[in-house]
Amino acid sequence: MTLLLLGGTNEARQIATHLQGHDAVISLAGATRHPQEQPLPTRVGGFGGEAGFISYLQEAGITAVLDATHPYAQQITVRTAQVCRAHGLPYVQFLRPPWTPEPGDQWVEISAESDAVDYIPRGSVVFLGTGRQTLHRFANLEGCEVVCRQIDPPTEPFPFVGGQYLFGRPPFSVEDEIALFQDLGVDFLVVKNAGGAPSRTKLTAARQLGLPVLMIARPAPGDWPVVESINDALAWVRAL
Ligand SMILES: NC(=O)c1ccc[n+]([C@@H]2O[C@H](COP(=O)([O-])OP(=O)(O)OC[C@H]3O[C@@H](n4cnc5c(N)ncnc54)[C@H](OP(=O)(O)O)[C@@H]3O)[C@@H](O)[C@H]2O)c1
Repeated sequence: MTLLLLGGTNEARQIATHLQGHDAVISLAGATRHPQEQPLPTRVGGFGGEAGFISYLQEAGITAVLDATHPYAQQITVRTAQVCRAHGLPYVQFLRPPWTPEPGDQWVEISAESDAVDYIPRGSVVFLGTGRQTLHRFANLEGCEVVCRQIDPPTEPFPFVGGQYLFGRPPFSVEDEIALFQDLGVDFLVVKNAGGAPSRTKLTAARQLGLPVLMIARPAPGDWPVVESINDALAWVRAL
């Protein structure tokens, strides 16, 4: 058996640690310039679309796929689930449970980035924890100061007027997030409902500061098998 572990998350790395010594390879998209070293043989970069992915599966002799990509990495997940189904390969998605609000949280769910403008008045300082690839979808936040936190310095300028990048490599403590939001004078946070403890600190900080949070809804669930914990993911591998 040769397992393909699709990574790009903390949990993928943790799963990879448990799979050391097994016949498994981890795949990273290459989204960050200096990714953490992985405990498994690693390939980096897109497969080259569906055809490239199918060729890779055959050439590498992959017999099962554990997809531990980010909950919002919809393209890779939908395609992988479909290809595995079509080729009779066992597939499971590791999907962290979403965050749920606690007393004092002021969260509003929005279905798309472009809807944030309906809740954010001109002149606001907006902190985006949503990533660079979808940044252009906030271009309608005219008259706002938009701060987008990134791991790597970008090669492109900010895609619209009124925005700035901020650099930082997670994890961030609650205290650090509070200090940052106070320094920036943040009025609103916009985040994805990524789930997981490490990146929840920004939400705890927002609650303590009484800041409203716009939470972009998760992609619609698929009709493929899902596990929600690392233990269940490892049990799935053992059962193969
Ligand atoms: N979306 C987020 O908010 C987010 C947050 C944190 C981390 N990430 C991680 O960053 C990566 C890219 O995210 P995304 O939202 O851009 O993905 P996406 O839109 O679902 O996928 C875009 C393309 O990136 C390539 N790709 C994605 N994950 C890959 C992997 N693990 N190994 C090899 N190729 C991969 C594939 O290219 P080809 O078609 O050429 O195969 C895929 O078609 C993912 O691995 C994800 O886990 C995403």
